[in-house]
Amino acid sequence: MRRIGVGLLGLGTVGTGVCQALKNNRDVIVKRTETLLEIESILVRNPEKKRLVEEVQDRITTDFEQVLRADIQVVVEAIGGLDPARTYVEKALEAGCHVVTANKELIAKHGAELEWLARRRGVRLLFEASVGGGIPVLGTVQHLLKSNRIHRITGILNGTTNYILTRMEEEEAPFERVLADAQEKGYAEADPAADVEGFDVAYKLAILGRLVFEAEVPVSRIPRRGIREITPEQLRLCRRLGYTIKLLAQGEQYREEGPVSLQVGPALLPLSHPLAPVKGVYNAVHLEADVVQDVTLIGQGAGEQPTASAVVEDLCNLFRMPAAPGLSPSRDSFLLPSDDDGGPRFV
Ligand code: NAP
Ligand code: HSE
Repeated sequence: MRRIGVGLLGLGTVGTGVCQALKNNRDVIVKRTETLLEIESILVRNPEKKRLVEEVQDRITTDFEQVLRADIQVVVEAIGGLDPARTYVEKALEAGCHVVTANKELIAKHGAELEWLARRRGVRLLFEASVGGGIPVLGTVQHLLKSNRIHRITGILNGTTNYILTRMEEEEAPFERVLADAQEKGYAEADPAADVEGFDVAYKLAILGRLVFEAEVPVSRIPRRGIREITPEQLRLCRRLGYTIKLLAQGEQYREEGPVSLQVGPALLPLSHPLAPVKGVYNAVHLEADVVQDVTLIGQGAGEQPTASAVVEDLCNLFRMPAAPGLSPSRDSFLLPSDDDGGPRFV
């Protein structure tokens, strides 16, 4: 069995979940990957804060360079935002560490260049947790793309806003109160405007658009509306008419090499639509493709444990054992080195 040192950046909702999952499922991980994943060092902002995982207290630091000096082969980035997360991820890749991140803003805005850097350094950058929380969206899409052309994506990709819309619809609960509740549960971004105004969904859609349609669409070019204008009364009226309102991410490309359309905004869904019953913190992605026809993935889209599941999946994928004969691997690397030097290539 090999031992792999992990440097963890951030010990908030996601970082705490990762510590707990690595501890609670240590036996499963060792059995399936023959790898012991040990957190060696943890970067935080406030060293005085009381932590939920007490056993890692002695590994906490506020000095990023100290994390890099530890005996680590992987960095998990769970700080969020662009700065200093981007600098830290670059430094980790430059230092020859694999990086796993949950940071959709970073990947949506700088994913291509970071992947390029990772490839140059012979390491990997994985970010399953950046889209759909605990749902293995990126892995599934990547798997489907081996034999399909996906021409449409429709998704509920933000747990906070789906939780707010559900509680406004079912209980007529006031927006601000439900938002505060979502923050307390650890679903919302540090600045919840990112959730409510649709930025978070736009980041996730940009990541999906790059994977599915190979389209590098700047986030600023994705038309975006949030849910601030939606009221409990509108939701009630819609339901009476046989509809619900969801904050949707929509992406389409009908011809290979043809134009790609990405957009984010509240949409009326008939109650018969596969995404209409998706409630609370749940996310869902409906994919339409030429061979498989359609696939819907549903699961918890935010929160400590579901997100930790996606991060730890990535960690395990870095070190998993080869598939047993006769079984095909379910998840490959997100990006393989290409033969030429022409930039990232998806498989
Ligand atoms: P969070 O609870 O706010 O935790 C952030 C952590 O990063 C805290 O431990 C904080 O330190 C640390 N941190 C922040 N700025 C720092 C800095 N400049 N230097 C050192 N440490 C710093 O955030 P989160 O909810 O875990 O989210 C982390 C990332 O995961 C974000 O990119 C988010 O979008 C993504 N994500 C979150 C979820 C979710 O459900 N929450 C789901 C999927 C993806 P202190 O503890 O000392 O303040
Ligand atoms: N704030 C995000 C959400 C976290 O509510 O979906 C998961 O990406």
